[in-house]
Amino acid sequence: MKEPIKGFSKLSKEGKLEWLTSNNFSNPEAAHEVFTTYWHADAELQKRHDEFIENTMTNYYMPYGVAPNFKINGRFYTLPMAIEESSVVAAAAKSAGFWLERGGFKAEVINTQKIGHVHFMYEGDAQALLTDFNDLKEELMERTAPLTANMDARGGGITSIRLVDKTAELANYYQLEVLFETCDSMGANFINSNLEEMAKQLEEFTDRHTSLDANKLEVVMRILSNYTPNCLVRASVSCPVEDLSSEGISGEDFARKFKRAIDIANVEPYRATTHNKGIMNGIDAVIIATGNDFRAVEAACHTHASATGRYKSLTHCTVQDGMFTFWIEIPLALGVVGGLTKLHPLVVKSLEMLDNPGSEELMGIVAVSGLAQNFAALRALVTTGIQKGHMKMHLMNILTQLEATLEEKEKVAAYFKDKVPHHREVVNYFCNLRGIPAPKVEQ
Ligand code: HMG
Repeated sequence: MKEPIKGFSKLSKEGKLEWLTSNNFSNPEAAHEVFTTYWHADAELQKRHDEFIENTMTNYYMPYGVAPNFKINGRFYTLPMAIEESSVVAAAAKSAGFWLERGGFKAEVINTQKIGHVHFMYEGDAQALLTDFNDLKEELMERTAPLTANMDARGGGITSIRLVDKTAELANYYQLEVLFETCDSMGANFINSNLEEMAKQLEEFTDRHTSLDANKLEVVMRILSNYTPNCLVRASVSCPVEDLSSEGISGEDFARKFKRAIDIANVEPYRATTHNKGIMNGIDAVIIATGNDFRAVEAACHTHASATGRYKSLTHCTVQDGMFTFWIEIPLALGVVGGLTKLHPLVVKSLEMLDNPGSEELMGIVAVSGLAQNFAALRALVTTGIQKGHMKMHLMNILTQLEATLEEKEKVAAYFKDKVPHHREVVNYFCNLRGIPAPKVEQ
């Protein structure tokens, strides 16, 4: 039976690994070997990775691919993509090539505002709170000035502080709603430090002012919001409908079916969820490769998709006057400084590959990766079906699982060149090739 352990965090890495393997695996030595095999040969570099998180045992490898030929606002980019799912990188590359011949992608940052809140309860006289708010605001700005000095110098800082009365939704609930410009950083630490300082000041202010009652104030939380509806970017493509003819169907039919696919996602959350998942395939892959926070981006995008009260498509499409226009408009709070951006060698290389973009340029690149991904997926879905391309890319994974040799892989790949490689059929063909019986039930 597994036993809990006290003080695990205080053990050395070897001590942790020893406990982990001997308490959780039937063959501790084999488990130990797998974990240590993934350690980096350069001990210094491994130490850096160990320190990114807590209780690090090893590194979890994820493939790092690239999708070339993205033309965005007239410039060429090769997109770095860290993702484990086959066909995503190929789909991105295929879209890039397709739109390269049709003018490329356009990207435009609409705004870059970040937001955070001091969430507090006040059971005293609300009017007194509102009356004194201008004085409080001045003091909040003064008190945070040392924290914002550097960001102010870069052209950012705090741009607004508001007292928001939320008592209609929750008794006694108020917010200090603070807007920030964080320039090239994602801004989480900057925002949270300022909010924590503001919360202290709010308590002191309430204590000092006779019209307010400090005993009736309770600061509950001070934290940034990952929903950034005013940190928006738009990416788009456009071409004459006739230029869309593809996979044996006319441009007109393609455009009509493509638009229908988006119309369906807009009225059917079951479809919208998968539709947007496909978009996030591209977005997350670039976000991870550039050292940004994909959980924050996911959360913001899904809230944005639900902004009307119904979960909808993150992409949009019009077919008008013979022109097909396809675009995405999403909140993306990204950084190119801070976090892992200078620490993780591959993140440094990803940013260099993109010519070290500022955060606004990166917003455009990431939005394009989502749009390109969705274009490839919908294009496949409304023409050949998704399995043809997806399984073609997945074929090597199946063969690796079957422990096929290089020669066998080549023979199977040649056979399925013009067929959809369904899992069962690949297994059957492979077993036949090897002269072994195919398993009755697949594991
Ligand atoms: P294809 O037309 O069979 O490929 O497409 P091709 O061999 O003719 O090559 C065309 C181009 O595709 C290549 O140009 C590459 O850019 C790229 P080239 O380099 O030859 O000049 N490409 C590749 N790049 C790298 N490695 C490869 C490779 N093969 C092609 N091995 C493809 C095949 C998979 C691209 C196509 O069928 C496709 O785009 N399918 C969509 C795949 C997809 O969306 N995958 C995501 C995973 S499925 C999912 O999770 C999301 C989903 O459910 C979302 C939704 O429902 O909306 C679908």
